[in-house]
This record gives sequence, C-alpha cells and structure tokens, in this order.
Amino acid sequence: MPIQQTLSIIKPDATRRNITGKIIARLEDSGLRVVAQKRIHLSREMAESFYEVHKDRPFYNDLVSFMISGPVVVQVLEGEEAVTKNRDVMGATNPAEAAPNTIRKDFAESIEANSAHGSDSEENAKNEIKFLFDDSEIVG
Ligand code: CMP
Repeated sequence: MPIQQTLSIIKPDATRRNITGKIIARLEDSGLRVVAQKRIHLSREMAESFYEVHKDRPFYNDLVSFMISGPVVVQVLEGEEAVTKNRDVMGATNPAEAAPNTIRKDFAESIEANSAHGSDSEENAKNEIKFLFDDSEIVG
C-alpha cells in the first residue's frame, strides 16, 4: 500500500475544549504519524482561500467565521493510504451520521463545529499541505 501524506486540521471547537491531545491520540492509534504540526490562528483571508471550493455553498460565510473563531492545530499526517485512513478515523462530516468510535461521532458538536478536517483526495492533500506548511517544517 502506498505511503501518503494528508492535511489535518483540529478545529476551533476542539482547541476551545482542550481536547487536541485526545484527537491526536485517535490519529496515532490508527497508525498515522504526525510529521508536521503547529497551532495557528487562521486569518480570514487564509480561511476564505482554504475553503474557496465551497464559496458558493450556503454555509461558506459561517464556516469561515467559525474557522477563525479560535486557534487551530494544523498537521501533516503520514502513513499507508493516509488520505482514506484519516477520513475513516474522522468519520462522516455530519456527526449525526458518523460511525461509532470516530472522532466526529465522539467529539463533534455539529456539522460545522465538527472538530477535524481531512483532505478528501491525494491531489487536494498536496495542495492543502503546500498552503499551510513549508517543506522544511515537515519532518518524517
Ligand atoms: P470540512 O471537512 O472542514 O470541509 C468543509 C466544512 O464545511 C465541513 O468540514 C463542515 O464543517 C462545514 N459544513 C458546514 N455545513 C455543512 C454542510 N451543510 N455540508 C457540508 N459541510 C458543511
């Protein structure tokens, strides 16, 4: 199976509740390795650009406001099939539909405050990682 990297964001609802460690443990327990990580406060411009693909969706403005409402922890995760594995560990976008023992089922507050983001394809992972990290910050 190919080794991949994917982009993960632990969202403001999770930093606010001081549960970043619990979420990181779920990721590591699945076999993913954190090869880059930093706690940052996204600017409005960064959040708008990161979620540009959703700019015509009705939830876009609220999503951007939420993502800048507090600090986030951005990470590069590495492992076999990392994109899919991370999405499996996170669970469905809507916590009401997420499988048992997933991050969103256990920690998310709502479809917006859903504790974690993960890239949805290898191509998007590459772009999202480049958007948030310099090569020198990624240490395998
Ligand atoms: P994320 O994986 O970060 O990608 C886009 C985000 O939009 C998603 O997680 C949700 O937190 C947020 N969102 C808010 N409302 C909706 C909605 N109705 N459908 C999909 N995503 C939504």
